[in-house]
Amino acid sequence: MPDDGLPLVALIGRSNVGKSSLINALVRQRLARTSAAPGMTRLANLYRVAREGIRPFYLVDLPGYGYARGGAKSAREFEALTASLFGERQLSALLVIDARHPGIESDRAAWEWMQDSIATRDIVATKIDKLARAKRMRALDELESVFAHPVAAVSADTGEGLNELWKLIARMTKPA
Ligand code: GTP
Ligand code: MG
Repeated sequence: MPDDGLPLVALIGRSNVGKSSLINALVRQRLARTSAAPGMTRLANLYRVAREGIRPFYLVDLPGYGYARGGAKSAREFEALTASLFGERQLSALLVIDARHPGIESDRAAWEWMQDSIATRDIVATKIDKLARAKRMRALDELESVFAHPVAAVSADTGEGLNELWKLIARMTKPA
């Protein structure tokens, strides 16, 4: 774990939701390993990101929850994992959810935990490309009402929403 005091922005979400793909899409490089089978990311991987106009920071790719092998079985186990990894370090986090599946129990549990333990947090709905345009608005409305929080829609495949996500990240990493 680095000790340079740069901000950490972690991606938190179910196995296979697309966390690693989102990192690759954000930095436009194939850095993080992705897979069609859940449970690809077994360790926390930190990527130091330098981008014009924002302070350097670390994107943290984490194993997903909801998949026993390698990752955490439940949001609670996940909580123990992050506590052991980050200790007292200040962590910002993005909850990554599937745009097609509003209100999955484990996602809600993760968001509840984030509200208690992570000061700077936001929600990203990915795989928006899998929804027909006509269905997107309703899906987002539903997600925002379930989480009572704004949801940024993105696609790692088409790049939709990534500029807005960069703006969110810039805000998260801004010195207080
Ligand atoms: P774990 O490391 O197992 O927790 O998974 P992960 O959340 O890192 O998921 P990963 O990025 O490995 O992607 C899982 C699968 O979803 C892969 O087959 C990706 O190609 C696919 N995928 C990810 N993002 C998108 C997206 O925006 N659109 C579409 N259509 N597929 C996506
Ligand atoms: Mg992964």
